[in-house]
Amino acid sequence: SATTIFAAHLLAWYDRHGRELPWRAPPGQPPTDPYRVWLSEVMLQQTTVAAVKPYFRAFTERWPSVEALAAAPEEEVMAAWAGLGYYSRARNLVKAARAVAERGGFPDTEAALRELPGLGAYTAAAVAAIAFGRRAVVVDANVERVVARLFAISEPLPAARKPIRAKTDAITPEERAGDFAQAMMDLGATICTTRDPKCLLCPLAGDCAGRMAGDPTRFPVKPPK
Ligand code: ADE
Repeated sequence: SATTIFAAHLLAWYDRHGRELPWRAPPGQPPTDPYRVWLSEVMLQQTTVAAVKPYFRAFTERWPSVEALAAAPEEEVMAAWAGLGYYSRARNLVKAARAVAERGGFPDTEAALRELPGLGAYTAAAVAAIAFGRRAVVVDANVERVVARLFAISEPLPAARKPIRAKTDAITPEERAGDFAQAMMDLGATICTTRDPKCLLCPLAGDCAGRMAGDPTRFPVKPPK
C-alpha cells in the first residue's frame, strides 16, 4: 500500500525509539484490548503520561475489563479518579463503559465509537486506529505542532487547524495508522517539543519544511493579538 516517506521514516524510528507504555502492545504484537486503549486515551486527554501511569495501573487492576468497570458504582470510580482532575471525564467513563457492556463490546469503527457518551473526535479516532487498526486521522496538540512544523504551515492558529488536519490525513498510512499516531505523539513529546526541538535526533529532520525555513519553533504560528 502507498505509504508516504514521512510514515516510513517515522515508523522505523518508532520501532526503535517508541516509548514503552503500559497501555501499548510490545512492537510486533497484535493491538491491545480496546478497553485499555480507550481508558488510557481518556486519562491522557488533559493529563501527562507520567501522571496517568499509576492511575492506569490502579484502574486496570481493579477493573480489568469494560464489563467490570460498567458494574462499578459511580462513586467508587469517582474516588479512584481523584487527583486526575476534570471529573466529567470519569462520569462519562462510567456512562460509556455501561453503554459498551450493554451492546456487548466496543464498536470497531470511528463513526460508531463517536456515538458513545463522552467520546469526542480525538478519542474515537485514536481508539479506531490504535485498538482496531483502522485508518483514522488522529490529531492532538503534539501532532498539531509536529505537522505545523513539518509543512511550515503559515496560517496562524486556529485557522491552521484545517490545513494541519489535511496534511495529517495526507501522511497517515493505510497500514499501522495506530502506530503512526502514537509515533507522532512520542515525537512531539520527546523530540519536537514546544520550546527546544531536538532536530539532530529527529527522524523527519530531512523532510521538515519548518527546519529548512530556519526556525521550526515559529510553527504553529500563534494567533495575532
Ligand atoms: N497522548 C495521548 N495518547 C497517547 C498515546 N497513545 N501515546 C502517547 N501519548 C499519548
